[in-house]
Amino acid sequence: MLPDTCRHFQAQLSLGTIVRVCAEAGLQCPYHGWTFGSSGRCLRIPQLTEGRSIPASANLPSYRALERYGLVWVNLEQTSSNGIPDFPEFDDPSFRKLRLTESEPMRTSSTRMVMATLDDTHFPWVHEGILGDRTISQDFIPKKGIEASRILCRFYRATTLPSMQRHGSY
Ligand code: FES
Repeated sequence: MLPDTCRHFQAQLSLGTIVRVCAEAGLQCPYHGWTFGSSGRCLRIPQLTEGRSIPASANLPSYRALERYGLVWVNLEQTSSNGIPDFPEFDDPSFRKLRLTESEPMRTSSTRMVMATLDDTHFPWVHEGILGDRTISQDFIPKKGIEASRILCRFYRATTLPSMQRHGSY
């Protein structure tokens, strides 16, 4: 997986075109035509003076990506060998799957909706057994953005699977 930003002038690469450079397929930037292979290596700079080679600084970083459980998982730590966690419930028909973007109509005010969305501290109280555990409710008080993210990851590992199995399906 490549970033969506061109190394040259930061154009949006996803607006580009797939082209062939020699025998290799590449993504051609829509702004000046620089072309990148699937590994991020810059394959072509149309404006490059003849005889000059493409500098290594023109290459894009690339990331390992896999599709599983209906999601694309990207490993942003290029040196990490972390894998995708197992979710045996995914193929278990006794569990109901919800898409991450799925929502239901609600009769509420917009301010209440925003407040509930931003407030993670209610999880162990309102969604206990699904998204929370009251015995570790202090962990849901975010101190900084990165801190909140770490807490959420720990929370899923600690409580989600046993609780979901206990309740049957969600
Ligand atoms: S911004 Fe992509 S080639 Fe210039």
